[in-house]
Amino acid sequence: MNVNITSLPYSKKAPVPMITRWKSPSNIALVKYWGKRDHQIPQNSSLSFSLNTSFTDTQVSVRPKTEKGGDLIALKLYLDEVRNPKFEDKIVTWFKQLITDAPYLSQFEWEIKTSNTFPHSSGIASSASGMSALALCLTDIEYKVYGKWDKTEDFYRRASYLARLGSGSACRSVYGGYTVWGKHDAIAGSSDLYALSVSKYIHPDFASMHDAIMIVSRSEKSVSSRAGHSLMNSHPFASQRYLQAQQNMENLLNFIQNGDFEGFAEIVENEALTLHSLMMSSVQSFILLQPNSLEIIHRIRNYRKRTGVPVCFTIDAGPNIHVLYPEKAREEVLSFIQNELIEFCDQQYWIDDKTGTGPSKVIL
Ligand code: PMV
Repeated sequence: MNVNITSLPYSKKAPVPMITRWKSPSNIALVKYWGKRDHQIPQNSSLSFSLNTSFTDTQVSVRPKTEKGGDLIALKLYLDEVRNPKFEDKIVTWFKQLITDAPYLSQFEWEIKTSNTFPHSSGIASSASGMSALALCLTDIEYKVYGKWDKTEDFYRRASYLARLGSGSACRSVYGGYTVWGKHDAIAGSSDLYALSVSKYIHPDFASMHDAIMIVSRSEKSVSSRAGHSLMNSHPFASQRYLQAQQNMENLLNFIQNGDFEGFAEIVENEALTLHSLMMSSVQSFILLQPNSLEIIHRIRNYRKRTGVPVCFTIDAGPNIHVLYPEKAREEVLSFIQNELIEFCDQQYWIDDKTGTGPSKVIL
């Protein structure tokens, strides 16, 4: 994905300032990425599906720098119309890492306006949707200004590559449906550098999977995922975990292809609990689950056993529980959520989401 963009001229046809706007979804991992090497290379492959209603909407305007600023990144970022120095710093750090791949980043002035459909304090991480939306805007600029990536496949691969360097899981959000990131011998075309859509292999029952996100707490994570990943470097179970993830990936893809919900539930729940066990057993131990998270988990398992309704859970790096179920179980699961789960959510708040079709460009 490396291109020497400096050598290409700023196209005379490109309007100044140039504006592009993309909406990109968050995603939920079923096989978890936890542990990485330098340059955001994952220690194991991961699998997720992109969400539908939880997304970021980002507009980027660029113009060539008016003042000589050398290699400095000139950037203003507005979150919900308000300038946000914390996110500015985060994006500047990401842009600096991209400079070799995209030297034009220091040649323009950037104005970024962004907002999320999910509330900032909903406990949903915005880095996957936020970084992927911005990566799609950057790729669009490379397309318009430098005439790169005119094949659709190359366009999304480049966006995924750039997004990965901002936040690993973000590289999976540039596609709708189900996506794999990370090299796996059994998955042709899989790569550590960008994600790959695997939606065409999915059984129809799994194509519209619902994700009801039970918000147990809206507080920001007490431990960042960056810190969590780095604790894996000294984790006593690390090498075994990476082997387990590769095996879980192969089994889960088979279950998803064959429409086997029982097998799906076993692996997905195992992955979620493994992620949290790794956090609890790392050398600097931390616990993100709360009593209400465990209560919801028990209730889901009891309900599935009692009724045979296809429903299971996964968990991201936080206390909130994602309740997964296929379209055919919707009516029953909605009553179950109403009758048995919402009392354990923060002010009964939950998000009704499902698999989405992926990012879209906003026509300006
Ligand atoms: O993309 P990061 O660095 O925020 O890490 C994400 C890690 C998990 O969300 C816990 C798992 C995953 O694969 O999305």
